[in-house]
Amino acid sequence: MIKLRKVTIHDLELLKYWDTKKHVIDCDPDDDWNWELELNRNPEWREQLIAELDDRPIGFIQIIDPYEEETHYWEKVEQNKRAIDIWIGEETDLNKGYGTVMMQLAIETCFEVPTVNGVLIDPLKSNSKAHRFYERMGFEFVEERQFNGTSCFVFELKKPTDNRVNMKNSGLIIKTKE
Ligand SMILES: CC(C)(COP(=O)(O)OP(=O)(O)OC[C@H]1O[C@@H](n2cnc3c(N)ncnc32)[C@H](O)[C@@H]1OP(=O)(O)O)[C@@H](O)C(=O)NCCC(=O)NCCS
Repeated sequence: MIKLRKVTIHDLELLKYWDTKKHVIDCDPDDDWNWELELNRNPEWREQLIAELDDRPIGFIQIIDPYEEETHYWEKVEQNKRAIDIWIGEETDLNKGYGTVMMQLAIETCFEVPTVNGVLIDPLKSNSKAHRFYERMGFEFVEERQFNGTSCFVFELKKPTDNRVNMKNSGLIIKTKE
């Protein structure tokens, strides 16, 4: 079973180790996440989460309020959105459905806030695997944009109109391969 829990400073070495993985570098080549600093901070506009499969950490998720985020990475963005970053740590944990479940849990967390009406993501233009992954989950392409000089595709998942926010009980969770 996959669960999300808050990061702690005890995750520092693991996060730094995952940062050395090629598939993680490739999705975010220029970013320095400043883990030593950031794991000791807890700004209101951010949640940093570790995904655990049966208590084994398998990946990382960050959820931000892009309107409130302090560096204004998203520049012009509406209020009442959330933006997500995600990666799986070990190559051997890719393509087993874990990312899908992690995203579903993160999306559910986002829409638990009643005012939130959309979830944004910004994969690199070149990250076609991620585009497929998000489209399969219902995200729709919005635009191509430059973030810090890098070409990205912005996708958005709008809040479901049928008030079905609890995906855990909606049947949408795909069973994962053991
Ligand atoms: C993007 C990412 C989080 C997706 O996670 P994932 O666990 O690999 O994703 P899933 O396993 O749910 O889906 C990926 C593929 O596995 C397949 N798959 C899913 N469940 C499966 C299962 N039970 N059995 C076999 N295949 C499965 C999917 O069909 C999908 O195939 P596709 O690549 O042809 O579309 C992961 O690839 C990753 O960490 N990538 C590097 C970082 C990154 O790019 N992050 C996104 C930046 S915006």
